[in-house]
Amino acid sequence: MYLSSIDILQVRNLTSLQLECHPAINVIYGANGSGKTSILEAIYLLGRGRSFKHRDLRLVVNHESDELVVSAKVERQKPKGSHRLGIRRTAKGLFEARLDGRALQSAAQLVEELPLQLIDAHSFNLLEGGALQRRQFLDWGVFHVEHSYTDLWRRFQKALKQRNQLLRHGRIDEDSLRAWTTELIPLSEEITRHRRAYLEGLVEHVEAVSKELDGLGDLSFDYYQGWADEASLADVMVADQARDLAVGTTSHGAHKADMKIRVDGVLASECLSRGQIKLLVYALKLAQATFYRDKTGESCLFLLDDLPAELDYLHRQQIVGFLRGLDYQVFMTGVDKRDFQVLVEGMAHHMFHVEHGVATKSEITGN
Ligand SMILES: Nc1ncnc2c1ncn2[C@@H]1O[C@H](COP(=O)(O)OP(=O)(O)OP(=O)(O)O)[C@@H](O)[C@H]1O
Ligand SMILES: [Mg+2]
Repeated sequence: MYLSSIDILQVRNLTSLQLECHPAINVIYGANGSGKTSILEAIYLLGRGRSFKHRDLRLVVNHESDELVVSAKVERQKPKGSHRLGIRRTAKGLFEARLDGRALQSAAQLVEELPLQLIDAHSFNLLEGGALQRRQFLDWGVFHVEHSYTDLWRRFQKALKQRNQLLRHGRIDEDSLRAWTTELIPLSEEITRHRRAYLEGLVEHVEAVSKELDGLGDLSFDYYQGWADEASLADVMVADQARDLAVGTTSHGAHKADMKIRVDGVLASECLSRGQIKLLVYALKLAQATFYRDKTGESCLFLLDDLPAELDYLHRQQIVGFLRGLDYQVFMTGVDKRDFQVLVEGMAHHMFHVEHGVATKSEITGN
């Protein structure tokens, strides 16, 4: 799957911008504040229905406008065909998504249409941030190989919310609490089964990718399911009920899961340099993409914001070579054109120069 063209209206400083995209490599360069990240933001909005920079979509709409529109022609491998995907965030705060003119009912449908991976300055959080980042990473993977996971996940969130509301309530209704606990346990277990199976399948892809990226060491993964491995969740929840009541929240279950990532036996976040962490994030996301392709026959799209940052030339080359070898479409940004000239030499690509929110197609030599 790749985008053959994109139209962006009123996203941050991009008032009106069209790109004829290359099916594989798209380089976007320009000075600070020119609009490079905003282009990636527009593509991300199209694929996720939300911003990767702001919680509030109002901040993404151009200051002078009250609505934004992003649309793209999506070329799909399986089944082969062209589709028009579009999103609009209206003045009244409504969010609309359409596929070939037909309204999509949920963000999950949008995500299904345009699987994409983003790597930017915040990607370090996958290793250095809280457990939520790692759960989201696993959930992305599970969802993309099994779309029914959304429904399971929603039911789980609903049951968890209801149980937590009861726990926070002063006078406890024992029957309701028991009912929500009974509902929650199998959902937690089912989510755990999916995540574990996904991680098991992912590991061989991580190994394959890390062989292509120099110096990553031996990676190992430990999944913490959100309660002790050897215990049954039902027993844990009975034993913890008094504590849950005291703290007003459910302390064990799939919402507390985490994943420890070790390099040569040591926690990655504790031993790796900045560049190595970034490289590991690349390895994890590339592995997700190869796993996804194995399962579905489709490729995902990569958005690499400021690719040159933190990475030495050899690693940039290995990453771009890997993506190119798999025929994944990539949009990569950077401030300096020279960083890309040698990198993409000999590879078919499009290069765009962005200035004050306007993109012009550029050649590999010259300005
Ligand atoms: N809602 C908005 N309306 C108009 N302009 C905005 C809005 N939000 C951000 N901007 C401006 O858009 C410009 C482009 O931002 P962007 O993050 O895309 O730059 P960039 O090219 O990625 O820069 P850098 O190299 O520093 O990462 C910035 O000058 C920013 O102030
Ligand atoms: Mg930027």
